[in-house]
Amino acid sequence: MRHLFKGLLAATALTTGLLGAAVTAQAAPMVIKFSHVVAENTPKGLGAQHFAACSEKKLPGKVKVEVYPNSQLFNDEKVMEVMLLGDVQFAAPSLSKFQSYNPAMQVFDLPFLFDDLAAVDRFQRSDAGQGLLKSMQDKGVLGLAYWHNGMKQLSANKPLMTPADAKGLKFRIQASDVLSAQFDAISAAAIKKPFSEVFTLLQTKAVDGTENPWSNTYSQKFFEVQSDITETDHGVLDYLVVTSAEWWNDLPDDIRQGLSGCMDEATKVANEEALKIALADRQKIIDSGVSKVHALTPDQRAAWRDAMKPVWQKFEGVVGKDLLASAAKANAAK
Ligand code: LMR
Repeated sequence: MRHLFKGLLAATALTTGLLGAAVTAQAAPMVIKFSHVVAENTPKGLGAQHFAACSEKKLPGKVKVEVYPNSQLFNDEKVMEVMLLGDVQFAAPSLSKFQSYNPAMQVFDLPFLFDDLAAVDRFQRSDAGQGLLKSMQDKGVLGLAYWHNGMKQLSANKPLMTPADAKGLKFRIQASDVLSAQFDAISAAAIKKPFSEVFTLLQTKAVDGTENPWSNTYSQKFFEVQSDITETDHGVLDYLVVTSAEWWNDLPDDIRQGLSGCMDEATKVANEEALKIALADRQKIIDSGVSKVHALTPDQRAAWRDAMKPVWQKFEGVVGKDLLASAAKANAAK
């Protein structure tokens, strides 16, 4: 009888164990949300898609990565806040969106600081640039990678060959005090608005112009509501891929390592595509004939630089002299 009872107990334990194992095997994958504001056929869009596909391949059944482009889920004004609450796990706001997390991040917005995207890349890879990735952990934000988009152009309904051409115009800008000062410096008005509103603002002429890299101007169709784009290359619009430091550090090791490897892969994809997409989208805009693209002579560009460069001095204190010098040095290290 005793044997029979023991046997029954063992059988029950075995069944429960098997059922438990089956339940574990079928446990739902961890849902990871990546929210961003641009189109899918942009460097950030492609990087996010690659990250999702790679993660699901490397961690089969363990993670499901959902990418929400085009501000479908959140705009940049909200996404960091909800990321820290756990509603999304990854975002890649532009570098202009971090001033309240670390004022030194404003270095990236200083006009005419970087000669080109290669200089931006050198600075991002330098010790100073890498240090910024981890500089916001006390606010809960961990930077995992820089992703490029490109150098910005000015657009309006007139050519902007000299700073005086922009005088009195209203420009939509990202939520950045440096960008606001940049337009103050040329006696233009700057209005901080979310990216998702830019097309309508331009279309309804609530603003006269804006600044954007080629891929945003093309993919969001801004060129269809701006008659002229002036090739100023006056600043950079790149991204920081961020996650919640707490969420990241609490992940099981295998998942964190898998995601980290995929972040490296996705970074390569986004950064290799950025320049190609910029050139291709610039050409598509020219070919469309809808908006005219104007090149600046070296003298005209120098006049823009002279007009905007005083902004550096204004922000040197918050950004830090050393960081500013490291960023400027990236131009020389060709
Ligand atoms: C903007 O707000 O203009 C940009 O940050 C959009 C983007 O992510 O490229």
